[in-house]
Amino acid sequence: MNQISKPIAKRHFLQLKDFTTEEILYILDRAIILKKKFKNYEPHTPLLDRTLAMVFEKASTRTRVSFEAGMYQMGGFVINLTSSDSQLGRSEPIEDTARVVSRMVDIVMIRTFEQTRLENFAEHSRVPVINGLTNEYHPCQILADLLTFIEYRGPIQGKTVTWIGDENNMSYTWIQAAELLDFTLHFSAPKDYQLKPERIAGVSDKHLKVFDDPMEAAHNSDLITTDVWTSMGYEEENAKRKTAFEKWQVNEEMMKVANSDALFMHCLPAHRGEEVTAGVIDGPQSVVWDEAENRMHVQKAVMEFLLTGKQ
Ligand code: CP
Ligand code: NVA
Repeated sequence: MNQISKPIAKRHFLQLKDFTTEEILYILDRAIILKKKFKNYEPHTPLLDRTLAMVFEKASTRTRVSFEAGMYQMGGFVINLTSSDSQLGRSEPIEDTARVVSRMVDIVMIRTFEQTRLENFAEHSRVPVINGLTNEYHPCQILADLLTFIEYRGPIQGKTVTWIGDENNMSYTWIQAAELLDFTLHFSAPKDYQLKPERIAGVSDKHLKVFDDPMEAAHNSDLITTDVWTSMGYEEENAKRKTAFEKWQVNEEMMKVANSDALFMHCLPAHRGEEVTAGVIDGPQSVVWDEAENRMHVQKAVMEFLLTGKQ
């Protein structure tokens, strides 16, 4: 009933590119099936008696609730650890935490700072590890965003997604998504917050176009998406960023230059009046609540895939 009784090759999900295009499409399809079961109150408990440990070194609302609710729905248990209530907050090495926790649970989700810290955890873990957000990537969120787009508009291949905001965990994951699912990402940020050349080396012009002017980036878009101006861990830059990002706000004027059926997404939490106006996020083109809900459906598909393989 645990990791010992049903061995399958251990896979981690540390960044979107850890899955192939075919696997991502499988997970998105599977999420739609699991969502339907959930909506129909149809029990689906493939992870009976399995345990998920969640390790949070940064705050969370959606990630915590979606993983926890999702694991319970699939028949499993959840243990939640944070830096402040575990020995991580008292400097126990991450490697030792990984060694110990992974002997007692079947799967781990971790939200932390550097991607290298997550990789280090995974390297010392006996069980699959899922990235619940690092400074560099947020793959579960992008899976939810892709699912939401597909539900509203069908395949994303060949479409244009516009990112208004800095180079951060979300934008780099969107770039991986553009490459894996073959769409174009328009990126626009103030000059001091541009993508790092070494992190986009080899990405083709077809998948990534960088714009100085955010309004120009928004033209002909099928989806406009943004994020907080200051990500977790960068709070000391807040005042400087507020000034720099003034022009990088998704507002009604920007939505007008996108395609008339363009969607608006935001991973949340949002700051109305900063990166997005209330009129846009609470308006008819916004799909942010479905996007948030889809975290749960897509992560259920990820956990099922990592623990039981393809169904
Ligand atoms: N979008 C997201 O990851 O939300 P939380 O920080 O609330 O988990
Ligand atoms: N870029 C944001 C995403 C929050 C879900 C952050 O890292 O804080």
